[in-house]
Amino acid sequence: MTDQPPKKPMPSQIENRDPNEVIILVRNHGPLRVYGPARMIDVNGNEYAIPEGEWFSLCRCGKSETKPFCDSAHKTCDFHAPSDATAP
Ligand code: FES
Repeated sequence: MTDQPPKKPMPSQIENRDPNEVIILVRNHGPLRVYGPARMIDVNGNEYAIPEGEWFSLCRCGKSETKPFCDSAHKTCDFHAPSDATAP
């Protein structure tokens, strides 16, 4: 028996996406997960690329030691944020 809440199913938009489309999933009280193919370029022009079918997560709690990537620090810093995407 575990105390973990049940995991939410993967949104159908990710399962059925166009393989050339970038999708950003807002994780509940967690990071932004970017599904590739995608390229991230830093201020110095360094590039981090992920192929189709892979993903990386970007920190939005501000506590990651590996910014801009998530290192799961959000799980221990009591991070809470709205996770629905409404237009600004
Ligand atoms: S969102 Fe995961 S470490 Fe910040």
